[in-house]
Amino acid sequence: MSTLAYLKSFFKDKDVASVTPTSRFCVRSVCSPIDFTKDITVVEYGAGAGVFSRYILQNMTADSKLFLFETNEILFEKLEQINDPRAICYDESVEFVSKLLPDETIGEVDFIISGIPFSFLDEDTKSSILSQSSRLLRDGGKFLAYQTSGHLKEPLRQTFGNVKTEWEWRNIPPMTVYEAEK
Ligand SMILES: C[S@@+](CC[C@H](N)C(=O)[O-])C[C@H]1O[C@@H](n2cnc3c(N)ncnc32)[C@H](O)[C@@H]1O
Repeated sequence: MSTLAYLKSFFKDKDVASVTPTSRFCVRSVCSPIDFTKDITVVEYGAGAGVFSRYILQNMTADSKLFLFETNEILFEKLEQINDPRAICYDESVEFVSKLLPDETIGEVDFIISGIPFSFLDEDTKSSILSQSSRLLRDGGKFLAYQTSGHLKEPLRQTFGNVKTEWEWRNIPPMTVYEAEK
């Protein structure tokens, strides 16, 4: 059961930053800008045990692709149980995302979904991850994030020139949901 895996990981690894998977309400809210009728390329930062990943795979087309990044080894083991040829898992930090993804995805990603705890990162790492993200996205591609507070609004506005936020209360804890467009 994923909640147990989160609990075990949380006490050993501060970067897990959550004792339970994101709620289905929050997953739907974060993913609401995605048009699942088209073939898309999605990258997920901090996929955990795969609550977003499974939702995306259930909804995306047969020719879409999903690249998953997760650093915690207990959660990564759960993630690897996803047996779907459209999903590619990396047990690596998103600090290296643009080096790790295949060259043909650079500038062609439709959506980045991010749950990594940006507030734990130093300014240089945060800014490097956001500028790599901007390079990965195609024009019109979207960076979709969820965080426990609104601290990511200004960095996203600086990187993308725009950002929309809303609260999702049906999650423990409540989440700020972000949408920025390249
Ligand atoms: C708040 S949890 C979200 C997990 C899952 N996506 C969910 O919604 O339930 C954040 C996740 O990001 C992972 N993480 C933190 N820093 C990371 C990094 N630099 N690269 C990749 N994953 C990271 C953590 O291990 C953790 O699983």
